[in-house]
Amino acid sequence: MALIDKDIYKAKSLLEAGEVIGIPTETVYGLAGNAFNVQAVTKIFQTKNRPTFDPLIVHSSSLAKIIQFVETIPPLAQKLATHFWPGPLTLLLQKKPNIPDLVTSGLETVAVRMPSHPLILDLLELLEFPLAAPSANPFGYISPTQAEHVQAQLGNKIPYILDGGPSHVGIESTIIGFEDTTPIVYRLGGLSIEAIESVIGPVSLMPHSSSNPQAPGMLKSHYAPRKPLVLDSIDQVLKQYAPEKIGYMGFSDFRKDLPEKNQLVLSQSRNYAEAAQKLFAAMRMLDTFPHLEIIVAELLPEEDLGRAINDRIRRAAAR
Ligand code: TXA
Ligand code: MG
Repeated sequence: MALIDKDIYKAKSLLEAGEVIGIPTETVYGLAGNAFNVQAVTKIFQTKNRPTFDPLIVHSSSLAKIIQFVETIPPLAQKLATHFWPGPLTLLLQKKPNIPDLVTSGLETVAVRMPSHPLILDLLELLEFPLAAPSANPFGYISPTQAEHVQAQLGNKIPYILDGGPSHVGIESTIIGFEDTTPIVYRLGGLSIEAIESVIGPVSLMPHSSSNPQAPGMLKSHYAPRKPLVLDSIDQVLKQYAPEKIGYMGFSDFRKDLPEKNQLVLSQSRNYAEAAQKLFAAMRMLDTFPHLEIIVAELLPEEDLGRAINDRIRRAAAR
């Protein structure tokens, strides 16, 4: 099992030795290694069982460091960075040759993020290299939002998990790329479209695709529990399953037609940020309740973080 602790100096020495470790961020936990070290990056893909056509995000703590591995930071990207970094936003920028092709799956752009979690920011400050880090889940499974989630799934494959407590955003970063100078959202995430548009005006959304190797974060089935998760009505599901076998994940209200112990609601006050924070832990918990055979999820209103939450729920339901 991995050691779970809060020691950034221990984390630093493992990363300098080319090891891969679990790290906290405000969005979800990551599986981190030296982004300049091909062996470390290879280890990340192997540990997660992730296909190498799915590129990684590179994490850094300052623009001064980022400019050492990207060609330029165009004006719109600069504006977004000024407003939202450190925070749950990833920008696709032209890479310099010092970022190995393995990190970007051969693409010319590298995904870059400055996370806001203080522990990981402190660690990044100490390091002389940026950290490549995908979410610390086996490929295709629910993303981890606590050190214990990482331990449960990858603990036997890594030496150390830096423990920063529960991730307070709870869903992955929003990814924005630029076509010429037009901003395009590649993945909905922890920074709402409304917040982004308030700074740079209207943005367009990359259409979802199940087979676009340029943006594999868009693979349709993703973030999925092992049990079937469906968006059908409870009435429909009750035709096939006894009420005791049905789990329910709702936005704010419990259902009267199912046992209460089978149910989790994301935010009784209908707060989107709270719902995002709880989403993956709730899915994971329902997935591990042994008496349940199927999970019914309720979609949220399509606004604010409700859109990113619905994106994750729909992907969990896709198989
Ligand atoms: O919040 C987050 O972004 C978390 C934390 C750990 O920072 N990381 C994360 O990484 O969600 P991951 O690997 O699970 O998702 C990264 C997504 C991938 O789906 C990948 O397709 C996309 O980013 N990506 C990375 N580089 C890209 C690029 N150059 N062009 C398009 N998409 C890219
Ligand atoms: Mg992921």
